[in-house]
Amino acid sequence: MKKQHIDTEFVTYDFAELPEGYQQLILKAQEQTQKAYAPYSHYAVGAALLLENGEIFAGSNQENAAYPSGLCAERVALFYANAQFPTVPVKALAVAASVNGDFTETPVSPCGACRQVMLETETRFTQPITLLLHGKEQIYVFDSVTTLLPLSFTEANLKN
Ligand code: THU
Repeated sequence: MKKQHIDTEFVTYDFAELPEGYQQLILKAQEQTQKAYAPYSHYAVGAALLLENGEIFAGSNQENAAYPSGLCAERVALFYANAQFPTVPVKALAVAASVNGDFTETPVSPCGACRQVMLETETRFTQPITLLLHGKEQIYVFDSVTTLLPLSFTEANLKN
């Protein structure tokens, strides 16, 4: 028996410390929370992503009375962008959430299914996505989705 250890590395920033492009993406994600359809959870999420070609796509969570039929903001934005530009890599993705009109103190944490879809996007384009998770206290920045989803299941697993 051998105990194994997995390290996760990310950087925390204050909003003002971030490069302007990332600030813009976070502002877009924040703005997008206002377009959420979240009558059940009242947790409004906005996601904004930057494509390699400079296009920005945004999405918000879309809930449903049949709960599992809804979709998270991240996947709305990613599927929307990938459907329009199936050959263009995603460079960065920002996520923000608000409750009762107030942005959350702690950074929003993407669900497992969204992490899996983000990872597929990285794998598909063989390019890491910079992930920016907004909280009022601080912003978490990850250089790659692999950091958020260690021991992940990818296309490679289907082959061996
Ligand atoms: N949600 C997102 O859209 N993104 C996240 O990162 C976390 C959760 C949504 C799903 C659901 O509409 C609501 O937030 C509460 O879980």
